Amino acid sequence: TLGRGRQPKGLQFEPVAPNKLDQVVVAPGYEQAVVVRWGDPVLPGAPAFNPGRQTAAAQAAQFGYNCDYLAVLDLPGEPRRVVMVANHEYTDEVLMFAGYNAANPTREQVEIAWAAHGMSVLVLAEDHDSGRLTPVTRHRLNRRITATTPHLFTGPAAGSKLLKTSADPTGTRVLGTLNNCGGGTTPWGTVLSGEENFNQYFGNADLVTDPTVKAQLARYGLRGLASERKWERFDKRFDVSQEPNETNRHGWIVEIDPFDPDFVPRKRTALGRFKHEAAEPRLTRDGRVVLYMGDDERFDYFYKYVSRDRVKKGNSPAARKHNLTLLDEGTLYVAQFTGDSPAAEIDGSGKLPSDGEFDGRGKWIPLASGNRSFVPGMSAEEVYVFTRLAADKVGATKMDRPEDVEPHPQTGTVYVALTNNSDRGAAGKAGPDEANPRTRNRHGQVMEVMESHNDAAATSFTWRLFLVCGDPADPSTYFAGFPKDKVSPVSCPDNLAFDRYGNLWIATDGNALGSNDGLFGVAVSGRDRGQVKQFLTVPIGAETCGPIISEKRVMVAVQHPGEVDGASVEKPVSVWPDGPGNLTRPSVVSVWRSRGNCRIGEDD
Ligand code: FEO
Ligand code: CA
Ligand code: CA
Ligand code: CA
Repeated sequence: TLGRGRQPKGLQFEPVAPNKLDQVVVAPGYEQAVVVRWGDPVLPGAPAFNPGRQTAAAQAAQFGYNCDYLAVLDLPGEPRRVVMVANHEYTDEVLMFAGYNAANPTREQVEIAWAAHGMSVLVLAEDHDSGRLTPVTRHRLNRRITATTPHLFTGPAAGSKLLKTSADPTGTRVLGTLNNCGGGTTPWGTVLSGEENFNQYFGNADLVTDPTVKAQLARYGLRGLASERKWERFDKRFDVSQEPNETNRHGWIVEIDPFDPDFVPRKRTALGRFKHEAAEPRLTRDGRVVLYMGDDERFDYFYKYVSRDRVKKGNSPAARKHNLTLLDEGTLYVAQFTGDSPAAEIDGSGKLPSDGEFDGRGKWIPLASGNRSFVPGMSAEEVYVFTRLAADKVGATKMDRPEDVEPHPQTGTVYVALTNNSDRGAAGKAGPDEANPRTRNRHGQVMEVMESHNDAAATSFTWRLFLVCGDPADPSTYFAGFPKDKVSPVSCPDNLAFDRYGNLWIATDGNALGSNDGLFGVAVSGRDRGQVKQFLTVPIGAETCGPIISEKRVMVAVQHPGEVDGASVEKPVSVWPDGPGNLTRPSVVSVWRSRGNCRIGEDD
């Protein structure tokens, strides 16, 4: 077995072996059930899922596709009920529609896809004696947000000419949220959602001739003619040559209030525009909020935002109103990482430098604060809308795809998942550095960032790599010094979470070791620091998302099951969760202890 003596609390389970099964496999002694699937009713009156007769109107009232981030919040006054918020990142048309013709999608298919994007708010009822959760489909808080739901821009770039289109001459109102990936839950009970790979929805960027606009588009991956889904044929805002500023209206952090079903979602411009993976909060010593945010692209950056004002405690209307202004006034920073070992010792192989650690110091470089820009040659509005270009100018460190980030709830150390970077060290690309030490990095790493004086508002920090992922038999891997014959292989860390004992849980996306993705637990302190153990695996082709580890339950979002090259409705690779003859359906899963002590990861 993997153990060396008694395991730490929260991690007392037998690890799951790597596999390629078309099912969710959980540790021995645990049970599981699907909570909600793509197409299940969310709003009152929503029809049951009928894949042969799906309509956009039905989809707009049903659970969306490709669930990613999950937030679960207590519901005051309603015991044994919780409100769940789920992101719906994108659509897999070939797995959704029988006979899908990618060259010529129908308007109905496109409108179904618009309705399958966005977010769901869904109240769940907790079972008395298990971890099972059941949707409460008539609850007044249930809500769908889609690619056509009205949103407001707030903060310093709201109303900017860069955000104006023919449909919105004010630059303050935008339809929809796209590619909602990771997220965060604020101390005041709202949910944040990151708009990530929004570029894929826009066509005809190559028809733009203005060199400045072309360069701005290119830095965000907007290029080519026809888009993959051909949405530009059905709404001209997706045609960059007709509405170039529409692209500027995506790539933000969205804040929603799940307790107010009429709340107009806000795109918070003070948090900058990039391929937002997630936004995870921490408080400064004087009670202001800090958000840590990754830009998930090879060679892109790690950011933080520090609010000007303090969080007001409590749930009074005045406190809620105040707290909804916190993400509009503050300072946006980008991270620069410096190693402490000689550059010659960082040879790209992953071999530890002579001081025994990939570690060093770093600083937070300010980009803009309110209407003030710190970037030469760029106005504050330009910094917020073209944040990548601003960060390029100030010497930020090019990272190996910063995905999710999670501050440790007890120590304050910030954990950053750097998922992989196959181009590190390639011709014409940045080579290895101590924070991104492997060339052609296929498996990723997990970093620890310790703010100076442990103050989230600090402008300097120290850092070290906690894990350098991969097969433990691969000499380029590092498990915080834990014996590598006693750890689970782990590849492509993406979403992060902590349990109540302060153990880190890592969900993976794209396992480059050839087995299915999964969820792993690992102690970050004590003698078991670095002992990675696999708790579950997801079906073939799926990514593990949205992990929530509570006392009695582990929840994960199983995203894009069966998404394998060449797979389609007619030739499925996955039929999870409903078996042969059924479409595969991205779903939320709950896992709990079968018997005995019902707490997750605790021996009887
Ligand atoms: Fe949507 Fe970076 O994962
Ligand atoms: Ca070092
Ligand atoms: Ca992700
Ligand atoms: Ca990912």
